[in-house]
Amino acid sequence: MIRDEKPNECRLVHGDCLTVLPTIPEASVDVAVSDIPYGISLDEWDVLHNNTNSALGGQSPAQKKLGSGFKRRGKPINGWSKADLERPKEYQTWTESWAGPLFRVLKPGSSVFIFGGRRTIHRAIMGLENAGFLLRDMLAWEKPSAHFRAQSLSKLFTRRGMDTAAQEWEGWRLGNLAPLFEPIIWMFKPYTIGGTIADNVLEYRVGAMNCDACLQDGKMPGNILKFDFAPGERGHHDAQKPVALLEYLVRLTTKEGQLVIDPFCGSGSTGVACRQIGRRFIGIDQDMDHVETAKRRMHVSGTHRSLRKEVPSAKQQLHMSFDGESPKKKLHTRS
Ligand SMILES: C[S@@+](CC[C@H](N)C(=O)[O-])C[C@H]1O[C@@H](n2cnc3c(N)ncnc32)[C@H](O)[C@@H]1O
Repeated sequence: MIRDEKPNECRLVHGDCLTVLPTIPEASVDVAVSDIPYGISLDEWDVLHNNTNSALGGQSPAQKKLGSGFKRRGKPINGWSKADLERPKEYQTWTESWAGPLFRVLKPGSSVFIFGGRRTIHRAIMGLENAGFLLRDMLAWEKPSAHFRAQSLSKLFTRRGMDTAAQEWEGWRLGNLAPLFEPIIWMFKPYTIGGTIADNVLEYRVGAMNCDACLQDGKMPGNILKFDFAPGERGHHDAQKPVALLEYLVRLTTKEGQLVIDPFCGSGSTGVACRQIGRRFIGIDQDMDHVETAKRRMHVSGTHRSLRKEVPSAKQQLHMSFDGESPKKKLHTRS
């Protein structure tokens, strides 16, 4: 069992979060921070639909030429087939499948930070709302750089031998603007009925923001977060996120010794952040190679299959003290 005398205890679990989350005691976790699959076919684990349209298999020649990391073609999605239109709904259903079990393990008032894709995040929000969470804010991770990959229309028409059209459409492109930000949604588990958020902070020690520890250029924190990877940090996962950014989110919403969960932890970037600032951590990933990478990065020795009885429930934690001050009120969880 994780106890307060081991405030840095970190657990890595190899498995599907759908089967692992139910092994964690109810209302035992303080905050969730996760870079979930975006449902944009970055890899096999990111294909979260049943659309068998052959245009979705393999990389397109253009993607290959550009050295795109996408293993499954995300385009063309033109809405011609009913299956294309089902994909967003399937992503929402997938989100709901783990959001319910995640809701159960979190304390009332807990924050949930979810990284998502710009074209799919709205369905993740709906899935999380259907599981009982509420939307608190939308943050933007402003990336240091982004590839601009829109196709020149005049070049395309020139290749087709359509010189007049090429001239008319000079300067126009097909595609997307440079993807300079990634959205992070900030959801929360509703706090006890009849109480205020301040009461919730006293009772469960979650729900507030440590603004003084998270100033941005000396000013109160805003919802645009500019973070880059440290030199040599990259290369552990195709969808890796900067430890400094994750550390910021964890520091904003937790105190030392509190417990953070990442149900899609990949190479353990959230865990590295927790290790660095003395938070306890549970990371889950279904891919053993990623779990091994996370173990190496976090200097964790063992891997778990389940966490039943290993993490104390909120009720048990009432008798544990992380800083000498123990919450006294009775436990109320939202049903
Ligand atoms: C976007 S990546 C996370 C990468 C992470 N941010 C990092 O810095 O390494 C999502 C991860 O979720 C894992 N995954 C997908 N479905 C899962 C499931 N049902 N249970 C547990 N892990 C899952 C994938 O193996 C993948 O490593």
